[in-house]
Amino acid sequence: MIDLLLCFDDETMLAEALARAVGCPLQIIERHRFPDGESKLKLPPRLPSRVALLRGLQQPNDKLAELMIVAPAARELGARNLTLVCPYLAYMRQDMAFSPGEAVSQRHIGAALASWFDNLITIDPHLHRVATMDEVLPGKRGLALSAAALLGDWAARHAQQPILLGPDDEAAQWVRAAAAAQGLDHGSCVKQRSGDREVKVALPDMDFGGREVVLLDDVASTGRTLVAAAEALLQRGARSVDVAVTHALFVGDAVAQLAAAGVRHVWSSDSVAHASNVVSVVPLLAAALRAPSAP
Ligand code: R5P
Repeated sequence: MIDLLLCFDDETMLAEALARAVGCPLQIIERHRFPDGESKLKLPPRLPSRVALLRGLQQPNDKLAELMIVAPAARELGARNLTLVCPYLAYMRQDMAFSPGEAVSQRHIGAALASWFDNLITIDPHLHRVATMDEVLPGKRGLALSAAALLGDWAARHAQQPILLGPDDEAAQWVRAAAAAQGLDHGSCVKQRSGDREVKVALPDMDFGGREVVLLDDVASTGRTLVAAAEALLQRGARSVDVAVTHALFVGDAVAQLAAAGVRHVWSSDSVAHASNVVSVVPLLAAALRAPSAP
């Protein structure tokens, strides 16, 4: 259990809902952005012992610099146990050097977060070649929750006996979890990415003719993975294609591209605020913060 939740001014809606669900006070960190881009941060002058900070890391670079300041400042002001509640945890996809010299961002960002916080709670982190959050956060406690079952439940109620399909191998873990809870048919595609917006998707050997299909993934960024899968499905005779993702990054023209590809509905969790949000991760986060074994 925590004594106080902190947040930044651009995440007050989620933070207010979370503080209410946990039953703890909420305070907002004041932020001044200097003309040259630096941030001045002001926390409450005295902090209780157990403090959680809500900070989603979509568009992460400036936010990481602020976390680097907030964490030691919070300790100076009295916090002894610091938890980062990070609904969307960025930099998890770069989990190996795909060519010589490439930095393994997951490892280095994980090490930095582990040096600032005692615990981290997140939702559907992109763990592929690494199995647990404890491996990402050396020596600290990490908890990965999942919105897959919530999205699976939503899909089952808003599409007709849909097939849940992961657009790549990595999505198989979320698709399996969501399909099992609802007893739905499921599968996953094979993806080949040759650039930020260049993606090819091969469908599994399943009969999609006349079926409603819901593409389920952890994160949509440019949306091109989902576009490629949706186009292939419609060509194979699917009756409809909907999209359900935990983290709705949807950069640039992603949503327009999905519509142009024939996607019927775009659904997401509120881990990242977006017009497509239909299910809330607040109960998951609140239960994790209230649990006796809370990190
Ligand atoms: C990576 O494998 C992730 O699960 C997503 O499939 C990927 O990040 C989506 O990226 P985009 O929307 O840019 O295709």
